[in-house]
Amino acid sequence: MIRFGVLASGGGSNFQALADGLRGDSNAKLSVVVCNVPGAKVIDRASAAGVPSVVLDHKTFTSREAFDEKLVATLKEHGVEWVCLAGYMRLVTPIFLRAFPGRVINIHPALLPAFPGMHGVRQAINAGVKIAGCTIHFVDEGMDTGPIIAQAAVPVLPGDDESKLGARIQIEEHRLYVKVVKDIAAGRLSLEGRKVSLRDAL
Ligand code: GAR
Repeated sequence: MIRFGVLASGGGSNFQALADGLRGDSNAKLSVVVCNVPGAKVIDRASAAGVPSVVLDHKTFTSREAFDEKLVATLKEHGVEWVCLAGYMRLVTPIFLRAFPGRVINIHPALLPAFPGMHGVRQAINAGVKIAGCTIHFVDEGMDTGPIIAQAAVPVLPGDDESKLGARIQIEEHRLYVKVVKDIAAGRLSLEGRKVSLRDAL
């Protein structure tokens, strides 16, 4: 059984997908949600799903490093082995990455390496691309960089705006995040150097 921690800053629909999708999975458990934004909807979702949550307001810390030290301590207290960033809108420091080497993943609403950063969906609309999507990747010190694990594509349709396209992408995000976490929990997926290793189901 692998214990996963989720980091989130907002609505938490990806957390919800993981909580629903992993219910009853004998390989994976969501041990804690850590949220850096007091009052975010993900906190209510966690309590409804029976997953402990901790709010760490980054504004009350003097530095990124001090925040990440507390974050690591909180995750370790809950026995976390792997970390899923799910709408976590902060860059992580080496302190955090060294605590979970090769065991931190992120979901991003664009087909990386295109459109990293805060507004992946808006950037896709503004660029006029015809195919958009989402990416799950291992986290390194960059912004939405790091080895790519999985991607899903959706069409950009006439009349799309950020909200319509974002909703279409999120359907794929929810499906893909559950699949990737199940692969990790089953021991099929890992990071070897900078390469993602995905073994077939036994
Ligand atoms: C998701 O679409 C995720 O891909 C995005 O934030 C959203 C959070 O939604 N993450 C990023 O843009 C990271 N750069 P949620 O709170 O409903 O899961």
